[in-house]
Amino acid sequence: MKRLIFLMMALLMTINLFAEELPKTANIKCGPWVVGVTENEMTIVWTSTSRCMGWVEVAPDDGTSFYAEERPRYYEDLMGRHVVSQVHHVRLTNLKPGTVYRYRLFQQCIDDRGHSPIPLGRVTASDVYSRKPFAVCTLDKSKEEISFTMINDIHGRDSIMNAHTKDVRANNPDFVVFNGDMVSFMGSIDDIEKGFMTRASKNFSPDYPLVYVRGNHESRGPGYGEFLNLFPTSTGTPSYVFKHGPAAFLVLDCGEDKPDSDIEYGGTAAYDAYREQMAAWLKQAIESEEFKTAPVKIALMHIPFEKEAGWWGNNELKRLLLPLLNEAGIDVMLSGHNHAYSFRKAGSMNGNEFPILVNSNNDRVEVKVNKSEIRMNVIDATGKLLHEHVIKVE
Ligand SMILES: [Fe+2]
Repeated sequence: MKRLIFLMMALLMTINLFAEELPKTANIKCGPWVVGVTENEMTIVWTSTSRCMGWVEVAPDDGTSFYAEERPRYYEDLMGRHVVSQVHHVRLTNLKPGTVYRYRLFQQCIDDRGHSPIPLGRVTASDVYSRKPFAVCTLDKSKEEISFTMINDIHGRDSIMNAHTKDVRANNPDFVVFNGDMVSFMGSIDDIEKGFMTRASKNFSPDYPLVYVRGNHESRGPGYGEFLNLFPTSTGTPSYVFKHGPAAFLVLDCGEDKPDSDIEYGGTAAYDAYREQMAAWLKQAIESEEFKTAPVKIALMHIPFEKEAGWWGNNELKRLLLPLLNEAGIDVMLSGHNHAYSFRKAGSMNGNEFPILVNSNNDRVEVKVNKSEIRMNVIDATGKLLHEHVIKVE
């Protein structure tokens, strides 16, 4: 009898599941943004209003209409299937260095609850008729001078986010860096969208590569794992190396700031082991021929090195990473975290052989790099130049 009741309940649940009507069309909810950009590849990421299959069509920036011919399609594939999801990451490959590519996003809702997936409703696409298509340029190691803009510690403040990104298109840097703590808490994807990515999407992110350095606040909350879902990297961790123009960049994760056993982490923290793994990775990354031969070397890490022993996380980063960064011949490190500007000369932090620029939570840093110098301008939310630094590269 019990078995019969169980079977009837299972049947009713199945009928109910299939009776539920799925949305028939999906639109862009947030994005797109472009991460993991190299000379030959990039990943386009966006979220949709409902679960759907997403794909990207790509066209060269040759002045032709997007409708001039059928454009190649790129999908996100997993184990032989196009992915159906609300978060899309489509990797474009076989691109040329320093080349602008136009692209268009497509979405098709699919009912994949049964054995045979069924396309639903109509296909939606980003507009390439009444507005210019999205367009982004690949990186280029042969470029003589490069530029980027860095903001950090936005903590979800839209007015500051807008003030520093509204002119990205006018200033036209090669890429934009988020140096951590863009939100205070990673509850869900919604927090990331509302906190800064909706604004980023309006102001620049469809058209400029994004480099996102994880801060300590991005590791807080049940949605912390969404970081790599929304901002995937080539290494599968937030730490990686990329090259552009004369510079090699080290993007370094930092972990949390207190001891793993702190009451604040409720027994979930394992940052000691994680930082050790990161140091092992860094040791090998700085030994690569590609990194060693770059004329300019820049490290990006949210938490800066301090002069005196302080909080556990800072101390451990200094113990594990600073000797390796010295050995790597870093020319400058860019950080945030402290919510106050400081410029720390080489040698001023008990052991740093390179300067560290710590940007405040209210300003941005605009950087230009060629093979002989790094120019860094710290600019406030009104556009006023606050500090200017030039580092000569030997
Ligand atoms: Fe921080």
